[in-house]
Amino acid sequence: MQVDAETRPTLLLTGCNGQLGFELQQRLVNLGRVVALDRVACDLAQPAALHNAVRDVRPDVIVNAAGYTDVDRAEAETEQAFAINSLAVGLLAEQAKAMGCLLVHYSTDYVFDGRKSNPYLEVDAANPLSVYGESKLAGDLAIARSGAHALVFRTGWVAGVHGTNFAKTILRLGREREALHVIADRIGGPTTAALIAEVTTDLLARYWRFDDRQSFPFGLYHVAAAGQASWHDYAVEVLRHAQKRGVVLKVGPEQVVPVCAADYPAVAPRPAYSCLDTSKLRQTFDIGLPDWKVGLQSVLDQIIHLPKSPVRDVQ
Ligand SMILES: NC(=O)c1ccc[n+]([C@@H]2O[C@H](COP(=O)([O-])OP(=O)(O)OC[C@H]3O[C@@H](n4cnc5c(N)ncnc54)[C@H](OP(=O)(O)O)[C@@H]3O)[C@@H](O)[C@H]2O)c1
Repeated sequence: MQVDAETRPTLLLTGCNGQLGFELQQRLVNLGRVVALDRVACDLAQPAALHNAVRDVRPDVIVNAAGYTDVDRAEAETEQAFAINSLAVGLLAEQAKAMGCLLVHYSTDYVFDGRKSNPYLEVDAANPLSVYGESKLAGDLAIARSGAHALVFRTGWVAGVHGTNFAKTILRLGREREALHVIADRIGGPTTAALIAEVTTDLLARYWRFDDRQSFPFGLYHVAAAGQASWHDYAVEVLRHAQKRGVVLKVGPEQVVPVCAADYPAVAPRPAYSCLDTSKLRQTFDIGLPDWKVGLQSVLDQIIHLPKSPVRDVQ
């Protein structure tokens, strides 16, 4: 979606080298001038650097795709996780409020404890099980407290062409290992970075064209592909599609062994169920969200055909 050349906004994008930041960068250029900052250009753990970056760029929109995303390591690096996922987010929100610009931010399904058995709504109580989830929730609350105009997109199980993720790991392990055991009693909504970036870009274009921007429906929205999967379902789909595309595997999709999470404890606890109800987003903006397999297959096709891909020896 294009925006009038004369009125194009300036967008400040943080975390431009992450899974999501990479996809956002490709699309946001259609909206306006994008100032994309990586960790070197702007370290979110350094409040002064963050403050100066926003002050210097004077953006119309801040898109914060940066985050401390190592769920297990966060258990030991609590201070660092909170500095990036909470303190920096609060600072961005305060600056956005002071400068009258829009803040776009990304939250996580890991703010929930997973005790529900039907998809979580935006109004459901958060109760994170991990330091990562706590730090992300603290960021969401800081934005709400700031009173800034913000769009907070809560999502989960993200996979993109750029960066590390479960899909890439399974693809690699399927080629290297003799056997693969994958958790089958943890359920979520696999979502691609491309889908989140498309939704973000679409809504930002609408915001920028909105007659009365002050009354745009800001707030927290769940963004996820349609459907749900266990990690085991997800792994099977990765290998099934890779096999269909001719990737040589040692472990085929039918050989992935389903196991219980309790038998494979991780450093950080994760919710057993973290599907997100996306009705609010779909109804407010009249948009459709494709099934999770559609996006995953597209990501896999791109990974398999990357020039330096570790899975390139496709027959
Ligand atoms: N991945 C998921 O499954 C998932 C699920 C739900 C929500 N989210 C949220 O979605 C957002 C994007 O996640 P993602 O999957 O794109 O994560 P990612 O691939 O790990 O990217 C995170 C980005 O943040 C940057 N970053 C980390 N610390 C920084 C710092 N101190 N200063 C500046 N930049 C810093 C990283 O820079 P480097 O490249 O230098 O490390 C990286 O570019 C995050 O807010 C995350 O919490 C992710």
